[in-house]
Amino acid sequence: MIHRQIDVALGERSYPIYTGADMVSSFAPICRQHGISDSIVIIIDRNVALYHLQPLLRNLQHHKFQPTTIILSSGENQKSLHRANTIFTEMLKKRIPRNSTVIALGGGVVGDLAGFVAATYQRGIKLVQVPTTLLSQVDSSIGGKVGVNHPLGKNMIGAFHQPAFVWTDVYYLKTLPPREVICGFGEVLKYGVIRDAELFGFLESHLEKILRLDAEVVMYVQAQCATVKAEIVSQDEKESGIRIILNCGHTIGHGLEFAGHYKLMKHGEAVLLGMIAESFIAKEMKFLDADSYERIVALIRRVPIKTKLSSLKIANIVSAMGRDKKHVGTKLRFVLPIKIGEVKVVDDVPPKLIQKAIEKILKK
Ligand SMILES: NC(=O)c1ccc[n+]([C@@H]2O[C@H](COP(=O)([O-])OP(=O)(O)OC[C@H]3O[C@@H](n4cnc5c(N)ncnc54)[C@H](O)[C@@H]3O)[C@@H](O)[C@H]2O)c1
Ligand SMILES: [Zn+2]
Repeated sequence: MIHRQIDVALGERSYPIYTGADMVSSFAPICRQHGISDSIVIIIDRNVALYHLQPLLRNLQHHKFQPTTIILSSGENQKSLHRANTIFTEMLKKRIPRNSTVIALGGGVVGDLAGFVAATYQRGIKLVQVPTTLLSQVDSSIGGKVGVNHPLGKNMIGAFHQPAFVWTDVYYLKTLPPREVICGFGEVLKYGVIRDAELFGFLESHLEKILRLDAEVVMYVQAQCATVKAEIVSQDEKESGIRIILNCGHTIGHGLEFAGHYKLMKHGEAVLLGMIAESFIAKEMKFLDADSYERIVALIRRVPIKTKLSSLKIANIVSAMGRDKKHVGTKLRFVLPIKIGEVKVVDDVPPKLIQKAIEKILKK
């Protein structure tokens, strides 16, 4: 059942995010409502295909759509130009016409790659995002950023391509490994810190239920996060202004991920740790009061993150922080909390303080 509809307001590119539970039987009818024509290409990875491909296929076929499926291996290394090209080849061989729709059924990797394919195949075809990880449901499926990695940097090649709609079914999370739930929680907590003090309070009182994937609680959280992201994206589609606040926790987070060669920890885990370090910077610079700082840290410390950071070197983390494309040609930029639910952008953090903040998370 569809529980809530949240709209991303972008003029003629506006679209709804449908959130709810066990919604698969409504999928094809909603596709029809959005004027999606019969030819559909479902892009999915093997893990997701194992559990979630058949019900969607059956629903589409039952409503006379003609879906074809492209199944990928799972993992970040699929997000490459090479992989995009093999998908183009498959689509061209199958003579997929311009009026087709790509359905990205999977986590952020599939969403970004399939979205990139949709943005560029024959100069762009329709896209529907069906996110299946908590991270992709609250973050990557919303906002139209699509792309692939380059050997010289993550997400360096891409486009903005808004979907026709986003389909967020809490049911998909039932098969998600617990570590992936924690990663999604990293982005969830970010929304509380940057924009939604009420959500933050809810997370404090419902953390265990979220990690156990209690459907009612998770649906509420998904809808709140989607509302925050939709509002920010609506104000700044192409990331030339306020959209930067979505990077709270990410400046140091990216440094940690890169220094760990993207193996030591996952993105959401790095964001959680990055948020501790960046909140510490905010407190030391007297932007954030000690009580709010303690609340942020206490909540993150309750999350069972299992990463061993002792092998990381501070110098490597700091030099990696500058590699993110948001910093190319500019100073290191931080999105620091000034209270729970509000942040500001700061680009003159003293290097010594950055170092001290990183020491703090490495010690624990
Ligand atoms: N476009 C954006 O705005 C944006 C924002 C944030 C992150 N991202 C990108 O998202 C990617 C990370 O996404 P992610 O965290 O979803 O990772 P992911 O897509 O790699 O999925 C994580 C793992 O979970 C598996 N999986 C997915 N759904 C499942 C399900 N329902 N049941 C069982 N297993 C399932 C996948 O096969 C994979 O092994 C990164 O590439 C990142 O750059 C993009
Ligand atoms: Zn992120």
